[in-house]
Amino acid sequence: MEFAKRMDKFGTGIFSVLAERKSERLSQGKSVIDLSVGTPNIPPADHVIDALSNAARDKSNYVYALSDLPRLKEAVAQWYDRRYGVALDPESEVVSLLGSQEGLAHIALSIVDEGDTVLVPDPCYPVFADGPLLAGAELFYMPLKEENGYLIDLDGIPEETAKKAKLIIVSYPNNPTTAMAPDWFYEKLIAFAKKYDIIVLHDNAYSELVFDGVQCGSFLRFPQAKAVGVEFNSLSKTYGLAGARIGFCVGNSRVVKNLSTLKSNMDYGMFLPVQEAAIAAITGDQSCVAATRAAYEHRRDVLCGGLNSIGWKMEPSRATMFVWAKLPAGYTDSEKFAMELLEKTGVMVTPGSAFGPSGEGHVRMALVQDEEVIREALQSIKESGILNL
Ligand SMILES: Cc1ncc(COP(=O)(O)O)c(C=O)c1O
Repeated sequence: MEFAKRMDKFGTGIFSVLAERKSERLSQGKSVIDLSVGTPNIPPADHVIDALSNAARDKSNYVYALSDLPRLKEAVAQWYDRRYGVALDPESEVVSLLGSQEGLAHIALSIVDEGDTVLVPDPCYPVFADGPLLAGAELFYMPLKEENGYLIDLDGIPEETAKKAKLIIVSYPNNPTTAMAPDWFYEKLIAFAKKYDIIVLHDNAYSELVFDGVQCGSFLRFPQAKAVGVEFNSLSKTYGLAGARIGFCVGNSRVVKNLSTLKSNMDYGMFLPVQEAAIAAITGDQSCVAATRAAYEHRRDVLCGGLNSIGWKMEPSRATMFVWAKLPAGYTDSEKFAMELLEKTGVMVTPGSAFGPSGEGHVRMALVQDEEVIREALQSIKESGILNL
């Protein structure tokens, strides 16, 4: 058998290696506290589950959806207006995604040709790079440096690269660095995109998981944002709906249209009961969002506070469901450290290098375990001596 050369670009990946080590440990009867993958363990609100299950009982809902219900698009437009102060035309500026991951994997296919340049943050959520690679793009990595508050340094992109680039991918609050972007950054991004005629894709998966009383908005609220790009949003973390696969691409109507056309050749739309769940989530009682935010904020306090108190010093995350920590003193290789941590403590984290070359020297911990389990992890790390104190 011969397979496509493009598959050479996708290695086995550290996530599979970690998963293997995890099952090895479990089969030996050893415990694992998994803080590696961002799978939320906070369930959706009852009214969302009710909407899904009621619609699932309706036998007429098992046809191909083919497209989004007009009520769903309306609901998204109302949600964007109410939550972010952004006006969207439901008909032309909204398309659903089978999880934002699906849209992120596919959108570059609708924008770039083989060999075109795509600007990608480094470190980044892996599909930001994998989607464009699938489309045959050349990646230009934009390093996110601590000294710049993990913001993309737009001035550091060479003129020649900016002229060639067709797409830039940006995401704040940021996974994995947990950084947020100030207004001036978005204004500068829009001016940059206009100057070089580059489409902006802003991923806003974590706008609701912002802590310490701070609020975060949408890229589309800035003047001219819609002229240059789109925003991706996801109900996975905000509403605890990760497995239901619900995301949206909203904003520039030409970009939305192109993506919808591509998708209409790939999938037959979102299962109708899932569309009903999405409507219930974004139009219903929003107190679940505040409760989810408070739960992640509390876990952040327990994990960051606990690690600081046992000598692993770090800044507490200001947003997202992650902690981005520098390796403890004496370690330089994040993969080696993550493996040693798993071996000695049973705590599984993701090496920073999995998110791109600039992620080296860090690990990412996902706040996906309850408080008692996080406390067990802290105890185990403290007792293991891995911190070399
Ligand atoms: C930054 C970011 N974007 C998108 C996604 C994918 O979310 P979804 O479940 O909507 O595919 C994730 C999931 O962890 C994420 O961290």
